[in-house]
Amino acid sequence: MHDFINDLRFAGINKFSSKVWLSSPTMHGDEQRWVDEAIQTNWVSTVGANIDAVEKAMAEYIGVKYAVGLSCGTASLHLATKLAGEKLYGQARPNQGTLQGHRVFASDCTFDASINPIAYEDGDAVFIDTEYDTWNMSPEALEKAFEFYPDVRLVVIAHLYGTPGKMEELKAICDKHGALIVEDAAESLGARYLLNGEWVETGTLGNYNAISFNGNKIITGSAGGLFLTNSKEDADKVRKWSTQSREAAPWYQHEEIGYNYRMSNIIAGVIRGQIPYLDEHIAQKKAIWERYEKGLADLPVKMNPWDRQKSEPNFWLSCCIIDEDAMAPMVRGEQDYLWKHESGKSSSQEILEAIAAFNAEGRPIWKPMHMQPIYRVSPFVTVEGNGRGRSNAYIAGSGVDVGADIFRRGLCLPSDNKMTPEQQDVVIDIIHRCFL
Ligand SMILES: Cc1ncc(COP(=O)(O)O)c(C=O)c1O
Repeated sequence: MHDFINDLRFAGINKFSSKVWLSSPTMHGDEQRWVDEAIQTNWVSTVGANIDAVEKAMAEYIGVKYAVGLSCGTASLHLATKLAGEKLYGQARPNQGTLQGHRVFASDCTFDASINPIAYEDGDAVFIDTEYDTWNMSPEALEKAFEFYPDVRLVVIAHLYGTPGKMEELKAICDKHGALIVEDAAESLGARYLLNGEWVETGTLGNYNAISFNGNKIITGSAGGLFLTNSKEDADKVRKWSTQSREAAPWYQHEEIGYNYRMSNIIAGVIRGQIPYLDEHIAQKKAIWERYEKGLADLPVKMNPWDRQKSEPNFWLSCCIIDEDAMAPMVRGEQDYLWKHESGKSSSQEILEAIAAFNAEGRPIWKPMHMQPIYRVSPFVTVEGNGRGRSNAYIAGSGVDVGADIFRRGLCLPSDNKMTPEQQDVVIDIIHRCFL
């Protein structure tokens, strides 16, 4: 590890006395009231007024008919993916996934929780490369993927760091090929998108939609997630599956495999207390993003981009990407890395290490799924076609890989809504000094 504290480039900067977080929970007090009420009235299980209130309030906010409270975003995505699999290919045997023998297209630059449900359902993920305009799934690469795999009928799309992807284009391509969409809006609760002239919330853009209340999200229940839909049948099915698939019998009767995925009324109490503050959190995160944009404007870096005409992100995480010609040498292995400083340049790992040395938390960009050891044999499609096996001993260059490039040059900056402007100025100062 480099000794940043004694590095003269950073002279005069003091370590933050309390840690500046990437994105930590922000409690307001109302949460306690609803949790206490659940305990006092003994509604502490997976039924109760808090769950009902969260489902109602969030369905109204997001603009869907039904929201089903589940234990986490991953559970919501799993059941969304399973519903899609059953709709497309029918009910599977209890010991088999609904996607067995089928390929599914999926966002490549995302958290693995987006796409693991494909594997839970025995499907084969095909990763679709990213575009530079919003850091989400590339419509051109998706179109290319349908050329290779015209039989695919399901696409899992995530909105990275709260920035909506190019949903109009992606939806048009899916419609053309008769494919369903699982929308992973885990990170983008409250982000809006202009779809065919109408502003809608993320979480309404797929056939099956999910959000997360994980501890680091824009609002949190400490855990929790929602499945979102306009279909009563789908909402009822998810409720049933999430409570061990009980049939309408006086005893525990089961005709299909079940899960223990329902939201707890205690967790729902925390979420219920957070909902009134969602817009406030978004405004705080937006102010942080804008402050970074201004503060870093003189450096060879760009902020994570968004479509200003067609989207309004929730600005969950502020990120930046270093210009290619300002990238100092950096290599990453599977679990380790090396970087070397060069005057006027820096690297994502140098900046992350520098801000960590002064007690602030950043994070690398999600390592793309096609680069993960677990998915190394899964197909990967870029705008140029097959993204695998592209280097050639006889031809120079190895083709585009936008996700790998953003992973290499980009980083997530401390984005906590409790970070003060003064603390953020110090983070901005540290980043400047990395380029000295
Ligand atoms: C893109 C994405 N999808 C899914 C999830 C999973 O949500 P959870 O942690 O609530 O299971 C997360 C966050 O944790 C996420 O960032």
